[in-house]
Amino acid sequence: MIESNHNPNPSPLDSSSRDDEDLIMDQNLRPASLDEYVGQDSVKENLRIVMGAAKKRGEVLEHLLFYGPPGLGKTTLAFIAAREMGVNIKITSGPAIERAGDLASLLTNLSQGDVLFVDEIHRLNKVVEEVLYPAMEDYALDIILGKGPGARSIRMDLPKFTLIGATTRIGLISSPLRDRFGATYRLEYYTAEDLQKIIMRSAKILNIKIEKVAAMELAKRSRFTPRIANRLLRRVRDFAQVNNRDTINSEVVDQALQLLEIDKLGLDKNDRRILETLAVKFSGNPVGLSTLAAATGEEEDTITDVHEPFLIRLGMVTRTPKGRQATEAAYRHLEITPPNAAGQQKML
Ligand SMILES: Nc1ncnc2c1ncn2[C@@H]1O[C@H](COP(=O)(O)OP(=O)(O)O)[C@@H](O)[C@H]1O
Ligand SMILES: [Mg+2]
Repeated sequence: MIESNHNPNPSPLDSSSRDDEDLIMDQNLRPASLDEYVGQDSVKENLRIVMGAAKKRGEVLEHLLFYGPPGLGKTTLAFIAAREMGVNIKITSGPAIERAGDLASLLTNLSQGDVLFVDEIHRLNKVVEEVLYPAMEDYALDIILGKGPGARSIRMDLPKFTLIGATTRIGLISSPLRDRFGATYRLEYYTAEDLQKIIMRSAKILNIKIEKVAAMELAKRSRFTPRIANRLLRRVRDFAQVNNRDTINSEVVDQALQLLEIDKLGLDKNDRRILETLAVKFSGNPVGLSTLAAATGEEEDTITDVHEPFLIRLGMVTRTPKGRQATEAAYRHLEITPPNAAGQQKML
């Protein structure tokens, strides 16, 4: 039940979609322990405590929920947690569990202490979610026998297990589900320094020669995201190989990224199209999500999961109750003069 609904042809910067090479790379480059996992210090610290405490008490690790934009290391943490607890991990995803029976068979096949990792847990359907409640709370399945007034419910015990959920949309998780997790962790965007470390580590594993300053240049253009950093490293390596460059330096990085149309701050064509739409077409006035999607030809989900958090983090877009707005920083980056609209005046 490993998810396989990945995009065969992703944009180099779209961290939400993965091609086959990405899937293999994600696995090869995944740190195997918390010590190898770069950054996210507060998440790591907290995880060490819950894992250490569970081990000391000889108990099963409590249910954990990770959230944050794609490519920040949620799946990696689930693998690390299972490994550090010395248990097996089974992987599935919200959309892959279609019926209550699918979930029941996953759960009954777990051994004591195992981790069930549910990616995109915000996409679980309601019926399945309700089976999950007693499973998480009491390690039990409620099975309904028969139909109509004669129906009765029997309870079946499950092995004690750990559910680890991951989501890009914490807001779409119902509160009864959220409440059943022992701990919820929000993953943050990475600093350039941390991404530089990740790039140097990946380069070593992949046998790529890259200068430290070049790794920093790449880090700064990686959307604060490890998956993107690793993906761009591979593209830059390809470029260096074709051009007979043995070692990747800043010049090679810059040339390769220019070819990929990734600018100095890591924005790609799609980011710039979204910015230009907000700044020029809508003159810096607030724009609703569906309007923005229609005007740019992007999926709404891709805008909210991938582009928007990045552009907000860069301070180029703000979210107001009325919609998304381009900020002064957006105009500066696009090198265009802000219009004299009333709404714009207020912001400047
Ligand atoms: N903290 C980290 N340190 C080193 N590499 C990381 C880290 N977080 C993510 N990665 C790399 O980025 C890739 C994507 O991480 P993943 O856990 O699949 O992200 P998510 O599940 O949040 O989309 C992994 O292959 C891993 O190599
Ligand atoms: Mg993942």
